[in-house]
Amino acid sequence: MADILIAPSVLSADFAAMGAAAKALEDWRADWVHCDVMDGEFVPNITFGMPMIEALRRNTSLTLDVHLMIVKPERYVERFVKSGADIVTFHPEASDDPIGTLKTIKKAGAKCGIVLNPDIPASVAEPYLDICDVVMLMGVFPGFGGQKFIRSVLPKLSELRAMRGDRSFVIELDGGVTVDNAAEIVGAGADVLVAGSCVFGAADPKATVAALKSCIRAD
Ligand code: DX5
Ligand code: ZN
Repeated sequence: MADILIAPSVLSADFAAMGAAAKALEDWRADWVHCDVMDGEFVPNITFGMPMIEALRRNTSLTLDVHLMIVKPERYVERFVKSGADIVTFHPEASDDPIGTLKTIKKAGAKCGIVLNPDIPASVAEPYLDICDVVMLMGVFPGFGGQKFIRSVLPKLSELRAMRGDRSFVIELDGGVTVDNAAEIVGAGADVLVAGSCVFGAADPKATVAALKSCIRAD
């Protein structure tokens, strides 16, 4: 059984010291660096774009997991891959051509995936499952770190796991993860946990990453 992967979100890091945050994540034994790109249109917040991905790329060899919360991601996915993204995910309702966008990401050389908000049923993912490397479920409505996990997402994780069959995509859960609820989220079906405020806000981030990683999968 593979280990649970931990993807701390630099949304909760010090924006004036992103290089140091990326390096710290290696020391804390994180697996992926989760990068939340927000455009102020798809979500009511604005963070950063390609230049930040390039800067992070120069400072870490960890997997850069780029979560696009932007309208018409097809306009930018190739440039995010060129900037150093290893994984690019987006919200299908934001795109005019989700399948084409997934193919563009793959052709550019990165892994691809879609993201479903808490109120979007797992069945919406079905048309994309054969091409996705990652399917991410939001545990909160996107836009801000530090929100409370929406528990009604738990059965959706199990549903997605059942839908997977022998396909190889990983199931990622983003938003509201804490040391207290991580075991339940992993038990429901998550393979990868995004964790922003609970890692960067911890007194001992390294111990927090280790605690999250110690969650045991259901199967
Ligand atoms: C929400 C972002 C999440 C967020 C997670 O819009 O997509 O990645 O930063 O932060 P926490 O772990 O604090 O909920
Ligand atoms: Zn995210």
